[in-house]
Amino acid sequence: MSITIVNQGRYISHWVNALKEKRPGLDVRVYPDAGSPEEVEFVLSWNHPMGVFKQFPNLKCIASTGAGVDHILKDPELPEQVQITRIVDENLTRDMTMFTTALVLNYMRGLYQYKAAENIKEWKPKRYLTAKDVTIGVMGIGELGASVAGQLSSIGFKVNGWARTEKQLQSINVFAGNAALDDFLATADILICLLPLTKETANILNKSTFSKLPKNAFVINVARGEHLVDNDLIEMIDLGHLAGASLDVFRQEPLPESHPFWAHPKINITPHIASITNPETAVTQILENYDRLQNNQPLLNVVSQTKGY
Ligand code: NAP
Ligand code: GLV
Repeated sequence: MSITIVNQGRYISHWVNALKEKRPGLDVRVYPDAGSPEEVEFVLSWNHPMGVFKQFPNLKCIASTGAGVDHILKDPELPEQVQITRIVDENLTRDMTMFTTALVLNYMRGLYQYKAAENIKEWKPKRYLTAKDVTIGVMGIGELGASVAGQLSSIGFKVNGWARTEKQLQSINVFAGNAALDDFLATADILICLLPLTKETANILNKSTFSKLPKNAFVINVARGEHLVDNDLIEMIDLGHLAGASLDVFRQEPLPESHPFWAHPKINITPHIASITNPETAVTQILENYDRLQNNQPLLNVVSQTKGY
């Protein structure tokens, strides 16, 4: 059985090299040079061309090269029998935890403002917030969100989480379900979105959500661009309800040059780099699933197509 990489754009040669290094002799193919369609059973994928999988009659597993699987599940022509897996990797979790912590501290200490002040040689010290003054709300307390919440709590923030189901976490108060969303939002001076993109969570960062946050709240979206209603964010910042936002993900990536986010003084942008899967470490779980598939064993990190994550 081969592993076929179906990936528009990013890091294809890294994956090929990492797979071959870990398992010399492995039959790795890169779409469209996948050989005969009947031979394709295990695919490693990121942002595939829509509809491409339906041509593979024996496809059994589509492995996302990232934590998210929305890019796979949005394909209306996914073969029914296929299992979908995702990456759960301690490096990915650590990188997301460090990045979101950096964004929180950057905002609290005004580092973006001081950089702007430096550019005009302005010396203007300002009072700043400290961790004990700030409650952070993490939407999505899964692999990444739970780690982010734990780290922020360990450095002195009060941290609340929001998930679909109830859970007990040390030092983190978790609000569960839609009924608890408003109470969760009311506490969040800094809101971090780490939800998967599903039918339920699309557009969740909207005007109504923002209006329930305390005045001067700051928004961090490191999940998916489709969680955010772009104009609602700009409106709520310009009205003075929100202090600003740090965004790593966008509806259209790369973010078009004409997009108003680029020029907004209270919106900070990074190009979807919060946490990038490292093929060198992640190939271990890919190869584990490749072996499991051939031995008819249950796969690791399978997502529920019904829940969408
Ligand atoms: P995960 O382990 O599946 O966790 C998802 C969390 O969201 C769970 O706590 C889940 O609740 C909660 N959730 C899902 N639907 C919900 C709903 N309708 N209402 C309330 N809570 C809901 O996912 P993960 O590994 O932490 O990754 C999260 C997302 O981060 C990925 O899907 C991806 O989009 C994004 N990401 C971005 C980057 C980047 O570089 N910017 C990198 C990696 C990942 P339950 O616990 O109750 O199930
Ligand atoms: C990145 O966005 C991922 O889902 O891993």
